Amino acid sequence: MSSPKYIEYRGLLLPPVAHNAKSLEFAQKFSVEDSDVFTVTYPKSGTSWMQEILPLVLNGGDLTPLHTVVNWERVPWLEERTLEMVVDKLPSPRAFVTHFLYRLMPPSFHTSKAKVIYVMRNPKDVLVSSYYFHKMAEFLEDPGTFDEFMEKFLQGRVLFGKWTEHVKSWRHAELGDRILFITYEEMVQDLPASIRRISDFLCCNLSEEVIQKIAEHCSFQSMKANTMSNFSLVPKEYMDSDKSPFLRKGIVGDWKNHFTSEQLARFQSVIDKELEGENFSLP
Ligand code: A3P
Repeated sequence: MSSPKYIEYRGLLLPPVAHNAKSLEFAQKFSVEDSDVFTVTYPKSGTSWMQEILPLVLNGGDLTPLHTVVNWERVPWLEERTLEMVVDKLPSPRAFVTHFLYRLMPPSFHTSKAKVIYVMRNPKDVLVSSYYFHKMAEFLEDPGTFDEFMEKFLQGRVLFGKWTEHVKSWRHAELGDRILFITYEEMVQDLPASIRRISDFLCCNLSEEVIQKIAEHCSFQSMKANTMSNFSLVPKEYMDSDKSPFLRKGIVGDWKNHFTSEQLARFQSVIDKELEGENFSLP
């Protein structure tokens, strides 16, 4: 019998290959520092992109980490097993990523001044990206047909639960000027401008020249060619890029190639209902 694909943690499904009781307890007891920066995303919203951008913004454009440290150690996930092994090696200020909902952040986060960058992506493109990710990530459940996967996604029977709950949980977090909301779409449209926003938010005061250099090295093509960033070093038994590359298309609007008009109507009505009364629009 094959091992179970998911464990349940405080109402969410997580793959045991990346998370276990020890890593989740480590995350809860984690000592957050005031200078820490967290990128928060629902899976497939641009996490790996921020693992590329953030170290360069924080270190003034030094490319060394991009070429010497794999992305999951360079900017580790708060909730994953890797954190405990690499945390002592992280340069200061430290950068992390997390898929946690707001309610799952550790107590020390709430008493700290740590900053948060929340990256949101259009949920239709998140669904498509996630569908292909489930095909290539052998540690996740087979997605079934696109239609079946859409139902699971809408019901939140996927990693980290419902997209709408995730977005809402961070929109309602009262973090004042500790949180920056940015979208995947604006990063695609104008990466230098997005990097400037991130740099200003983190008070990094980067020159235009450095911003341009960071944008160039964090482009989709640059990341795709970088073995430290394209997940090609992950053994095939976990991620099979012959089925679908991790850095797949990197575009806005690929959902148009996948949704039927019926699927679009169903998807939109569920998402609209769950976002009713929220004062933000979808990217
Ligand atoms: P696609 O599957 O639509 O191509 P995450 O890192 O949160 O898992 O998100 C992965 C998605 O972000 C993938 O989307 C991936 O291609 C995209 N992505 C990563 N780096 C990117 C970049 N530099 N430019 C555009 N998209 C990028």
